[in-house]
Amino acid sequence: MKKHRSWAEPWKIKMVEHLRMTSRPERENAIAEAGFNTFLLPSRLVYIDLLTDSGTNAMSDVQWAGLMRGDEAYAGSENFYRLEETVRRYYGYAHVIPTHQGRGAEHLLSRMCIRPGQVVPGNMYFTTTKLHQELAGGRFVDVVIDEAHDPDNLHPFKGNVDLAKLDRVLREAGPDGVAYVCLAGTVNMAGGQPISLANLRDVRALCDRYGVRIYLDATRAVENAYFIKHREPGYAQSTLAEILRKMCDCTDGCTMSAKKDALVNIGGFLALNDAELAEQARNLVVVYEGLHTYGGLAGRDLEAMAIGIAESVDGEHMHARIGQVEYLGEKLIEAGVPIVRPIGGHGVFLNASRFLPHMPREQFPAQALSAALYVDSGVRSMERGAVSAGRDPRTGDHIYPSLELVRLTLPRRVYTQAHMDVTAESCISLYENRDRIVGLKFTHEPKYLRFFQSRFAPVRGDKVLAV
Ligand code: F0G
Repeated sequence: MKKHRSWAEPWKIKMVEHLRMTSRPERENAIAEAGFNTFLLPSRLVYIDLLTDSGTNAMSDVQWAGLMRGDEAYAGSENFYRLEETVRRYYGYAHVIPTHQGRGAEHLLSRMCIRPGQVVPGNMYFTTTKLHQELAGGRFVDVVIDEAHDPDNLHPFKGNVDLAKLDRVLREAGPDGVAYVCLAGTVNMAGGQPISLANLRDVRALCDRYGVRIYLDATRAVENAYFIKHREPGYAQSTLAEILRKMCDCTDGCTMSAKKDALVNIGGFLALNDAELAEQARNLVVVYEGLHTYGGLAGRDLEAMAIGIAESVDGEHMHARIGQVEYLGEKLIEAGVPIVRPIGGHGVFLNASRFLPHMPREQFPAQALSAALYVDSGVRSMERGAVSAGRDPRTGDHIYPSLELVRLTLPRRVYTQAHMDVTAESCISLYENRDRIVGLKFTHEPKYLRFFQSRFAPVRGDKVLAV
């Protein structure tokens, strides 16, 4: 007897997009041509695309209808005002500056608020966020709790800040040495792990003592709100919208990649409470993105984003979204495949170090596993380990983070349970045949965000998955 009644998605399918099936020899060729980097595969050769949840979501009929309401005026588009009002209502910040996507907002914030030599403490790094901090002359310092670096630790809020670590950083850097504290909810690189409201409030109190501001990476903040509702005592009766506002109220502004939570294919924003800083941002955005009422986006994109934000806080939607991630994760746990636990918000993260214990870190196990998964079944995933971490800007050495992961990221409202079954079976089969996976070495390494465009070759033979 089942303990719970089954649940199903709160939507039905109105339109379908055909997927092309490929043969194994076709995939072997494709991954070799892509330099064993799934980012370099043409999507027409991918069956189930779990590369990212970024911009890969299915929009609703209401969002598609909203596109027709695009007011493509250069200045003061109607859709901008709708977006501004929506962000104010749900996120609560006073000033809203649209940007083409998340990193556009990160660029502006880093440029305005970081002076060379300053540190930027954060609950684990994110690739683009950290790079923009470094390009502005800052230095990211990790203050996440130690549990976040342990893929098997079951802490319910592995995105929490270690207050003692943060206090030490703030004290040692002094008031002029800290640019701001950058908090993400959920924490992508830790496996989509949430931060609790209690911890956010404690961080706020600590930062107030030092007069330091906090900016939220709100990219997946609604997913974070879902975890607070279900895991943190006292919020079971609150709506996701109420929890989201409480989270944002602990901070001074946010950068946002609307391509995730907000259910659009492109878009983002910077939101700020400080009027003077917002004025500066409205001036800078003209240089790098576009006028402050469109920020590099079409009016129709702003409209779809406004509608998507309202849809994202719907409890049924989020239950289905995170429920699907759990469904995939639980299948893998049942089969003994090592994944990051607790299961995160936007994807399931294979623990490549434990999956391939025979492979040294220097052979990039997560990169190899991701390539092998594609060869096995046409499922596209992404490396989140040493390749993503890049090199230490001071020493030039590879950084080997404690987490060496492969991310199976679920686009929102796109795939069915059967796609999850196929994905799980491929991972399980690979795990049973893990000795056949061959390590990789770099053949080309770009300077910035190398994981996107790096190329590799197997350390022996010419296949990443031996037959
Ligand atoms: N912050 C977080 C936590 C992200 O996950 C991303 C993007 C960004 C900022 C940057 O936003 O892509 O719109 O410029 N993450 C994507 C991913 C790329 O696949 O995780 P962007």
